[in-house]
Amino acid sequence: MKQFLLITDLDNTLIGDYDSLAHFNKILSRNRYLIKIVYATGRSLFLYQELLKETKLLKPDALIASVGAEIYLDSDDPTQYADWENELSENWNRDLVLDIAAQFSGLKIQAQSEQRPFKISYHLPVQDAPKVISRLEQLLKEQKIEAKLIYSGGKDLDILPAKSGKGLAACFLQKRHFSDTVKTIVCGDSGNDITLFEIPQVLGILVGNAQPELRDWHQQRQSPNFYLSTANYAAGILEGLENFGVLAA
Ligand code: GLC
Ligand code: MG
Repeated sequence: MKQFLLITDLDNTLIGDYDSLAHFNKILSRNRYLIKIVYATGRSLFLYQELLKETKLLKPDALIASVGAEIYLDSDDPTQYADWENELSENWNRDLVLDIAAQFSGLKIQAQSEQRPFKISYHLPVQDAPKVISRLEQLLKEQKIEAKLIYSGGKDLDILPAKSGKGLAACFLQKRHFSDTVKTIVCGDSGNDITLFEIPQVLGILVGNAQPELRDWHQQRQSPNFYLSTANYAAGILEGLENFGVLAA
């Protein structure tokens, strides 16, 4: 049977409006045989589980957490996908990244639950971001650390191994576990979703409430494979799925 792979971000993409999420859950439950679901979130597994206490989400076929620094094949099981961890450990020196970042007074470390073996996260005010990010990138490069800096929502800076990120984690899963799906569709609202839109041949849905960093990126490409919804949050995802003919209107 022809199955689609839907990879969606959670905060401010699938999550954000209670009624449209309930509607999304109803429609997707009805079409579950047609669509495999992967959640790709910036949250750690801990914050994902906190979210589940207050929000009803369909159980995904896999979970990408911590901006792609972690993959869980069963979202109810805290065992990480070890092959993915092995991929990320090359040329990564967490302590050295922390030392270098400590030189920047504008960087405020996020909650402990969000500091992971392959993810270090800070708050960074939007007005300081361009300068801090380019200087930090330069210093990391000088120390031969292969890192990826991702700025999201005009406030969060994540530092990850270069081989990480939501998009590369999604490609890894796609090849190993979802190779029989016919088409991959990604959905997002902010900077940490950009790498999802960079997956080769992917169809992308930007929800109507997408942040400037993702809109600007989209604007510069103008690809017919990407769709900017008028509706926000989960309703925006459904609108995009209809636009691409995955679901009937
Ligand atoms: C989530 C994570 C946070 C990260 C942000 C942006 O909010 O909890 O650590 O910085 O996503 O990727
Ligand atoms: Mg988001």
